[in-house]
Amino acid sequence: MTATILPGQPHIAYQGSNLCMENVKLSDVAAQFGTPVFAYSKASMLSALSAYQRGFAGRKAQIHYAMKANSNLAVLQVFAQAGCGFDIVSGGELARVLAAGGHPSKIIFSGVGKTRAEMKHALEIGIGCFNVESDAELEVLNEVAMSLHKKAPVSLRVNPNVDPKTHPYISTGLKGNKFGVAHESALQTYQRAAALPGLHVVGIDCHIGSQITEATPYLDAMDRILDLVTDIEAAGIPIHHIDFGGGLGINYNGDTPPAADQLWHQLLAKLDARGFGDRQLMIEPGRSLVGNAGVCLSEVVYIKPGEQKNFCIIDAAMNDLPRPAMYQAFHQIVPLSPRTGAATLLDVVGPVCESGDWIGRDRELNVKAGDILAVLSAGAYCMSMSSNYNTRGRAAEVLIDGHQVHLIRDRETAQITFQGEHLV
Ligand code: LLP
Repeated sequence: MTATILPGQPHIAYQGSNLCMENVKLSDVAAQFGTPVFAYSKASMLSALSAYQRGFAGRKAQIHYAMKANSNLAVLQVFAQAGCGFDIVSGGELARVLAAGGHPSKIIFSGVGKTRAEMKHALEIGIGCFNVESDAELEVLNEVAMSLHKKAPVSLRVNPNVDPKTHPYISTGLKGNKFGVAHESALQTYQRAAALPGLHVVGIDCHIGSQITEATPYLDAMDRILDLVTDIEAAGIPIHHIDFGGGLGINYNGDTPPAADQLWHQLLAKLDARGFGDRQLMIEPGRSLVGNAGVCLSEVVYIKPGEQKNFCIIDAAMNDLPRPAMYQAFHQIVPLSPRTGAATLLDVVGPVCESGDWIGRDRELNVKAGDILAVLSAGAYCMSMSSNYNTRGRAAEVLIDGHQVHLIRDRETAQITFQGEHLV
């Protein structure tokens, strides 16, 4: 039987008229675990990772999976076993990495608002590096480290002021963003950090945004960062590692981001040309490792024709798939078993009481109530951004590995959604 591979989704294909992930029929997953359910392909995650590994072959480089993209313990386990470190942004994420078997020395702690309690815990377990985002944070981290008689390993997140050419909500490296230390004042902040007794300067980092589909912003950011490394080292402060953040985009709807190995081929050429080729490198990819490894399966509950629009109401909603509502993001939506016959133009929406609860607008679909749809590219920033709005329990999650289907998260019951609440 011939397989029809969907664009950008190498591990999801129609085998005849059945949509499959690796060797598993997705209709069997829906039948066994109910809907909505997220399914992730392990092979897809590992092949996305291998593109980076190929790109860094022969280099001193550590890949830190930015776990905010998808923080299920089993997903973290896959990456930990493949040798990845982790980029975290909260004490909660730290607890998850440790529970999944991640090694503390391979964790870097990013984020603009780390609390003293989070710093203390991270120092106690021997975290690899704090990516510090402000002068104020530097002072607090110094105090916390001194109170523990430790030296905190620090890198400063520098804001290189380059335009990543992505959605404004997910661009982070411009002057107007809340992230990082301004490029102009970074040298001063490094001098301050080097003088503080509770800190040990180990690196420099940047992260300019997410869903970046061109190499140029990376090349520009690299130039800006390397200029700074030259100045910082001239001031007598050695920089042991350079961390270029995450941000590489994926194909949602015909997007054509460079492949990770090709991007790094270009970036490493620049690094070599500027004499930094032998440095310890770090990166923090999230979306590009998991985004196209996941789908969300959802049942059509009703077809509701309207005067201006026809609606396809499914059992997944903005609480499961928040990206369309938040960023007007596009996710492909395909039937698990396509029907023959004419398609209708439909808005695919969820049951949540908000007009913003849409998953896809103006989609050509031939579907009936009871059919199962797959929302594609749902491996990143979907379950990890989900909520219980409208007291909807979170979906189940499964990891597919060849012929095997592992349940990696139970569907939440209503009781679980209010288990921490108390009557007065
Ligand atoms: N490092 C830092 C410091 C970050 O803030 C992020 C993402 C990453 C790495 C990973 O970036 P990635 O490789 O995944 O692009 N919720 C949005 C995306 C927010 C990204 C936040 N930071 C979305 O659904 O598009």
